[in-house]
Parts: sequence; structure tokens; C-alpha cells
Amino acid sequence: GRVGVLLGGRSGEREISLMSGTGVLEALLSRGVDAHGFDPGLRCPTEIAKEKFDRVFISLHGRYGEDGTIQGLLDLLDLPYTGSGVLASALAIDKITTKRIWLSSGLSTPVFEELTADCDWSAVVKHLGLPLIVKPAHEGSSLGLTKVQALEDLPAAYKLAAGMDKKVIAESCIIGDELTCPLVGFGDSAEALPVIKIIPPQANYDFHNKYFSNETQYLCPTGLSAEVNEEVQALALAAYKVLGCKTWGRADVMLDKKTGKPYLLEMNTSPGMTSHSLVPMAANAAGVEYADLVLWLLSQTLQ
Ligand code: DAL
Ligand code: MG
Repeated sequence: GRVGVLLGGRSGEREISLMSGTGVLEALLSRGVDAHGFDPGLRCPTEIAKEKFDRVFISLHGRYGEDGTIQGLLDLLDLPYTGSGVLASALAIDKITTKRIWLSSGLSTPVFEELTADCDWSAVVKHLGLPLIVKPAHEGSSLGLTKVQALEDLPAAYKLAAGMDKKVIAESCIIGDELTCPLVGFGDSAEALPVIKIIPPQANYDFHNKYFSNETQYLCPTGLSAEVNEEVQALALAAYKVLGCKTWGRADVMLDKKTGKPYLLEMNTSPGMTSHSLVPMAANAAGVEYADLVLWLLSQTLQ
């Protein structure tokens, strides 16, 4: 049947989504699928009903794409789509709600606070320590993120994040290895793919180093012990299941250098599929090439 690939959209990650979606579209076309791009950032999303798609591959990131809104529209239209449903998408997009759920399930995640304009900044620093991370609660790809090194830099970091989002989170900064773990499947049959260790230049895995740097190194296998790899996979899998994610996702994790303990940062329910992205990399390490990954993800819409 006719497959729609949703790409672009209207979040801060639009540019990344265009790269992900183009990769997905090309992969589908290369395998003879009747695939067509649809950009709900350029067209009214409800116009998707006119396209007579049989299924939809969601290559949108961030708000209005990864947050349950488009999923709700597609549910109303009875159009099967890739990835998580409304609830898991809406939970995972909100880093604060996500962390509350993880904590209530005993899953480790850095200590955090929701910041507001009238915060007592020194109390925040006292609680979270320095450095600390400030970011919009609903953005991805490190947009609006600041690593705050000193108390006097906190208000500006808040302002930057608050300019992008109504909700701003501050969390304590875990110093150590930056890891990510893709998950696939649903419920009891969900499983973790190989963990990737990310080594960005100047230890700064920012927007540029995520997508446009050839200096960022990716290790898969990570070079960490089997025990640590398994611990990270188990944590990521539990994090995925408790949010009710479906088909795929990717948990970002920090491994504390001092204690060796892994901490969950966030769950991406519509992970990047660009040439620099991590799920395709992990799938590759597990022997699955990009186009086969895309076809498998699409096939799951029929489950
Ligand atoms: N938010 C980006 C797209 C990712 O996690 O891959
Ligand atoms: Mg993200």
C-alpha cells in the first residue's frame, strides 16, 4: 500500500527530522515501497487524511511529532503508524514527568528540579550541585541546553531554555561516559540492542557534535565490561517498558565515573535516523542494515 513518511514538522528539531525522514524515504523507495513524504510543518496536519495513506512512518522529532499529538490524529483517522502510541509519546516527551515515573519505579535518574522565573537560584545550586544541566523539558538534540558551571550563570541558562519551552528542568550533571541504548519491541517481548558509547570532542555532545561533526567518536561495542553493558541495557529496557513504549525507542544514559552507576537522562520515542544517528548504528552492530531496520519498523505497524 501507500506509505506516508512524516518529516519536518514544527519543533526545534525540524532540521534533524528532515534528515531522518529523507533517509527513511530513500530507504523505502530503494526497496520498492510506494512511499511519499508529508511535512506537517508545511501543510495542515489534518490534510494527511486526503493522502489516502495505508500506513505512516513517523520521522518527526520533538513537539507535534514525538509527543502524542500527531499520534492522536492518526488514531482518529485509523491510520497505523510506527512507534509508541499517544500516552507513551506524551509521557516521554516531558523529561520531568518521565523522571517522576522512573523514580517511582526505582530507576535511577539524576536529581532534578523544575525551574521557574522566581526560583531561589542558590537553593537550586545547593540541591543539585555544580555543574548542573538546564534544558527545556520538551526539546531534543540538546537544543536550549546549558551546562551551568557557576551560580551567576543559572538565570541566563533558565532564560535561554524558557524562551523555547514553558517548562524548564535543571538536573545534576553526571560526570562520566555518555551512553545510549536503543530498545525494540513491546511489553514482555521488548529487548535492548547493543549499547553505544559516545565520545564527543571537548566532551561536549551538543547539537553540532551530534549531527555535523566528524570528530565525535561512537564505540559499539562500548569497550565497557559485559557486566556494565548488561546493567545499562537492563536499566534502559525497564525505562522503556515502564513508559509503555512500543516498537522502538532510545534511552540516553550517563555512567558516573566515580561510582560506576548508570543514570537515565531521557527516552526518545522517535529516535533520529540521520547518517550520524545512533539507532541505525546499534542495529548495524547487531547485523541489521539501515533499510532493513526501516522495513522492520514499518512492518510493526501491522502488529
Ligand atoms: N532527538 C533526536 C532526534 C534523537 O534523539 O535522536
Ligand atoms: Mg531527545
